[in-house]
Amino acid sequence: MSNASLVIANWKMNGNRALTRNMSEVLRDNQADFKGVNVVICPPYTLLSEMAGHIYYDDVALGAQNVSEYESGAHTGEVSVAMLQELGVEYVLLGHSERRAEQHESDQLVAAKAATVTQAGLTAVICVGEDKAQREADNTWSVIQAQLEKSLAGLSAKQMARVVVAYEPIWAIGTGETASPAQAQEVHAKIRGWLVENYQQVGAKTPLLYGGSVKANNAESLFSEADINGGLIGGASLNGEDFCAICRAAK
Ligand code: G3H
Repeated sequence: MSNASLVIANWKMNGNRALTRNMSEVLRDNQADFKGVNVVICPPYTLLSEMAGHIYYDDVALGAQNVSEYESGAHTGEVSVAMLQELGVEYVLLGHSERRAEQHESDQLVAAKAATVTQAGLTAVICVGEDKAQREADNTWSVIQAQLEKSLAGLSAKQMARVVVAYEPIWAIGTGETASPAQAQEVHAKIRGWLVENYQQVGAKTPLLYGGSVKANNAESLFSEADINGGLIGGASLNGEDFCAICRAAK
């Protein structure tokens, strides 16, 4: 039985106009198979408008992969929440490990962005995860806990109601080495406990996604774990059929 209800596609720096059209058509043709599952597509900024024009279906929403912490002004190269809202964006990924590593995004910056996003009424998808060395040193939970504490710092209960947490072990991203359902569940259960302790009823309801080499053939076993409420999908979200199979596994 699936405990999942939210599947997010993160195209990263991939895709083109043809993929937005193809994905839209495949989702349209298959959506009856995963009715009730919330599906979010996060293409690169340049394809948001194109994708927005193709999404006509219930339960499919638009997401962005990043946003500025500022509302407007002299911030060359940045994109604001208001700009995303104008395109119909409802979700924003924040603190993905690739941005933390390549753009040196700190927990403090993630928290500032989370405040801007949730204040505007959008949903912030906060990504956390340990690297291989941290796992092998048995530091997984201390790393995750510190990321949660700092990345969610200052959010009110009302803002927390607009937060999704995505657990993405870095060693499992794009490697084909998925965390086993038991490994993922162990961390998700601790995240749930921490959220309930800190945010009570709101924390009990925060959707918890797993990400890291989720594929059509392992999604079902991951989604059957008690505290895995869906997936954040990278590579497999670039193929419409594979992505729909993962969405079906969430039903
Ligand atoms: O945001 C998605 C994750 O980084 C997972 O990527 O499915 O290619 O491993 P992946």
